[in-house]
Amino acid sequence: MIGSAVKPAKALARWFQANQRDLPWRLALEVPDAGLVVREAAHPQVSSDRDALPSPRRDPYRTWISEIMLQQTQVSTVVDYYHRWMERFPDVAALAGAAEKEVLEAWAGLGYYSRARNVLATARKVMEDHGGAFPWRREDLLGLKGVGEYTAGAIASLAFNRPEPILDGNLVRVFSRLYALDFLPDGKEGKKAYWDLSRAWVEAHDAALVNEGLMELGALICTPRNPDCARCPLSAHCAAFKTSAQERFPPARSRKDSVDVAGFAVAAFREGKDGEEVLLYTPRKAERLAGLLTFPLFPVADLPALREAWRAGLPGLPKTALRPRAVTVTHSITHHRYRLRIVEGRVEAGARTRSLPEGYAWAPVAGVERMLVSSLPKKIWKAVR
Ligand code: ADE
Repeated sequence: MIGSAVKPAKALARWFQANQRDLPWRLALEVPDAGLVVREAAHPQVSSDRDALPSPRRDPYRTWISEIMLQQTQVSTVVDYYHRWMERFPDVAALAGAAEKEVLEAWAGLGYYSRARNVLATARKVMEDHGGAFPWRREDLLGLKGVGEYTAGAIASLAFNRPEPILDGNLVRVFSRLYALDFLPDGKEGKKAYWDLSRAWVEAHDAALVNEGLMELGALICTPRNPDCARCPLSAHCAAFKTSAQERFPPARSRKDSVDVAGFAVAAFREGKDGEEVLLYTPRKAERLAGLLTFPLFPVADLPALREAWRAGLPGLPKTALRPRAVTVTHSITHHRYRLRIVEGRVEAGARTRSLPEGYAWAPVAGVERMLVSSLPKKIWKAVR
């Protein structure tokens, strides 16, 4: 039986306040007259009236942008992008007034460009439908493009201190260990069990501190390997720790002798007769992913090796500038686990391709989305556009 979360939630909040990383989106809001509302301040009471407009704890615009940037990208990469973004688009009105080109430019390198387009659409909606005030109810947040259950909970709790749950890989690991849950939030029941726990925690104490504390604990202490239980504020409450079984939770997905494939996926573009084209590859019968149109993949260790493999594998191509993006696509299929860094290629304008090796072909960018059927190349394309 799972007991009350009040005591551990308080212990977690204390730990978080003393040990959190200094990240730019964690700056507290400046409130005129009241001076700076410091994050260590006494916990404002969460109103029991779910319709009462809460006073923001932290700038919701900044919270939202950081959460979207963090979705598929590491904290260390996000920090620089975040600073530059805030200089360029300091608030939701500035973003809403920007041209798409400008927004994509500021996002360039982060990958998953649909995130940038969604962010712009959402800024415009916030201006038009919400008079520029960021919504704070979960249902309203879920109506914004690019805002799913996790992000809605994160904005509501971190910016507005609303007791709204969140769930991501970090929280699944923390809960699975705390309560020795030997299942994942996969099916309907599994999902419900984890979301119920998340709700119980966020309702047990200060919502912002609990949710961001859980994220931070998962990132710094309750790591997938070698969790630092000696420093964990929750070890006294942790079922896995009690039986020294931390690493048995969460249960691994069964992966029958799976093979890791690490390397690069290249999206190479050129200006074709009728517009922009991208190079695709159809693997032959004996190859993995046979017959399924994909991007050229290179299982090599680093960029110099990639450049060499590119020249050797595609000798008929004119010079191609290969630029790595700050994004990695992971995908598991049958027994293979892919971990691919995305590289964007640009084939020199004007130069003619002599001939492409068998299996390679140029495809108009406009039609690529419809041509790709398997999920790995779809993920790669999503990361590129
Ligand atoms: N990952 C997602 N949200 C985060 C946050 N607010 N701080 C650190 N890592 C995060």
